[in-house]
Amino acid sequence: MKIVLAYSGGLDTSIALSWLQDAYDAEVVAFCADLGQNEDLSLVRRRAEKNGASAVYIDDLRDEFVSDFAFPTLRAAALYEQRYHMAASLGRPLIAKRLVEIAHREGADAVAHGATGKGNDQVRFFSSVTALDPSLKVITPLMEWDLKTRSQQIAYAKERGIELPPFKTSPYSRDSNLWGTSVECGILDEISEAPPSDAYTLTDAPGNRPAEVIEIGFEQSIPTHINGERMTSAVLVEKLNEIGGRHGIGRLDIIENRLVGFKVRGVYESPAAEILFQAKRELDALVHERDLLHMIPYLSQQYSQLVYDGKWFSQARDALDSFFISIGDRVTGVVKLELTSGRIAVLSREANRSLYNLDIASYESEYGFDQTAGVGFAYIWSMQGRVAALNDKERRSN
Ligand code: ARG
Ligand code: SIN
Repeated sequence: MKIVLAYSGGLDTSIALSWLQDAYDAEVVAFCADLGQNEDLSLVRRRAEKNGASAVYIDDLRDEFVSDFAFPTLRAAALYEQRYHMAASLGRPLIAKRLVEIAHREGADAVAHGATGKGNDQVRFFSSVTALDPSLKVITPLMEWDLKTRSQQIAYAKERGIELPPFKTSPYSRDSNLWGTSVECGILDEISEAPPSDAYTLTDAPGNRPAEVIEIGFEQSIPTHINGERMTSAVLVEKLNEIGGRHGIGRLDIIENRLVGFKVRGVYESPAAEILFQAKRELDALVHERDLLHMIPYLSQQYSQLVYDGKWFSQARDALDSFFISIGDRVTGVVKLELTSGRIAVLSREANRSLYNLDIASYESEYGFDQTAGVGFAYIWSMQGRVAALNDKERRSN
């Protein structure tokens, strides 16, 4: 049997790499995606080789991740439970897609991953792989093995001579990519306590740094420029993480509803995503008619639910994407923002297809707006209240 394992280089997947060889009598190919998690991936490669991987793939998927997963989600203005940028949720379908490609190239029978049975990620891996190739088996070591506790796992690793990553002092479960970082578990499970400062790695504590002004350019809903300079999607997001990070932008501490049915506390950092969301919202407000603008939150919420729930590869998300591509066509322009102490303030916005009309909006001008029509409009607009008041005795006597 041949298995392709999504290998992060961490404790769980290092043990899984060896365990799969034993438990399934299998040849195991290790694959690690570079999604901008800021780790030394040459060490990950070496660890995979040491632990018996028959081949190791370390693939730089940063541009694909941002262009094909993060930016469509930005275009759809999708946030899970109105707040979470879904960095981890967006990484899984791309990792799954690449797992399937490698399985095909390697002639493998199965793919494997290191998600637990209590989380969302297992569902995202499974449903993404299934949607792309239902003939591939999905193996889940952490849900199958007997190594229930950390000390059992470490004893197993010692016995087999498995090379583990250097032990970190922080007991969090962390997942990072260019769209953001998530931190769960450990002391964070005590929801009455504030997150310790070592939970945050992308952002400085909002402090007394002087305010910084930046200008973001969008073309058809996709961010393309910072301060007038065009850059590739991954570089643009990297830069904004750096800029936003030093002002403490994009921190989030929420109680979140996992799709497996219980609530957890999640701590997140998404400086770039937060800046881009706020900037794009300004352009949306400028270019879309009111009826359309008011429709967006409902569809954004549907989009976020699909992403969170592991339904990236689905007709529903494709259809929503077509909608957001179509309306996103007119979202081209520039937004100037001021970043200070964890906050983003809008200074100005300009769009090629702005619907803002100064002559109509201004009280200084009568152009294009007949104020005398207002009387009739307000009269008819209020008709249902008038009818109710005239007919409803209780309301009259109050
Ligand atoms: N709760 C977040 C989500 O479901 C973060 C998951 C983080 N995953 C991880 N393997 N640490 O998207
Ligand atoms: C896991 O349980 O594997 C990580 C957290 C999650 O998937 O929600």
